[in-house]
Amino acid sequence: MKLSRQTGGWGVVSLVVGALVVGMVLLLSPPSSVAGSGESWAKFDADGNLIRPEGYREWVYVGTPVTPNELNDGKAPFPEFHSVYIDPDSFAHFKKTGEFRDGTILVKELISIGSKEASSGKGYFMGDYIGLEATVKDTKRYAKEPGHWAYFSYSAAPPSATATLKSKVQPFKTESCNLCHQGFAEHDWVFMQYYPVLRAAKP
Ligand code: HEC
Repeated sequence: MKLSRQTGGWGVVSLVVGALVVGMVLLLSPPSSVAGSGESWAKFDADGNLIRPEGYREWVYVGTPVTPNELNDGKAPFPEFHSVYIDPDSFAHFKKTGEFRDGTILVKELISIGSKEASSGKGYFMGDYIGLEATVKDTKRYAKEPGHWAYFSYSAAPPSATATLKSKVQPFKTESCNLCHQGFAEHDWVFMQYYPVLRAAKP
């Protein structure tokens, strides 16, 4: 009886000590995803290939421009719907500062037009996933790129629902992608003017 009471006492002491240790560890360890200081969600291999991001459909969705072939002389450069997402840490930073932090990654998923008519009326309705593009801002890796943005595509040419997306890719040359973004994007190379979620989040 006495022994078990003593054991109980030590149990309480070790619980208190344990709680103190856990508390200290929590105080000492840096917060993992504070806006602006979290790690980049863009992952590269040793040769500078951007590994195809996964799970981006659960990042923050920012908007869906649509450039149908039939409004573009039969061949839009990026056909049909473009659903654009930003990684969550960069979104948190943007919400606080109105700026894209170093390490920001945006992806643009291409989706075919599936149908042009629904019970709600005529229009454009999403079909299949057909391609994936990305852009990353990195002041060190892309020190020489305008705005420090580089551009990537995992899509087949032409984008297709049956083709396999590439697993890792090198950035495009500056003149292939960057210069058009530099010339026409509303803010820091990003086409904010077409992303209502970013416009609404801007402080
Ligand atoms: C002729 C101009 C032009 C060129 C060239 C261009 N883009 Fe874009 N890009 C746009 C426009 C406009 C948008 C936003 C509207 C849309 O998606 O249609 C956009 C949006 C994007 C986005 C979404 C994030 C953002 O920055 O707004 C990505 C990713 C992207 N483009 C990748 C690429 C890649 C990869 C290339 C090169 C292969 C490229 N772009 C070349 C005009 C261009």
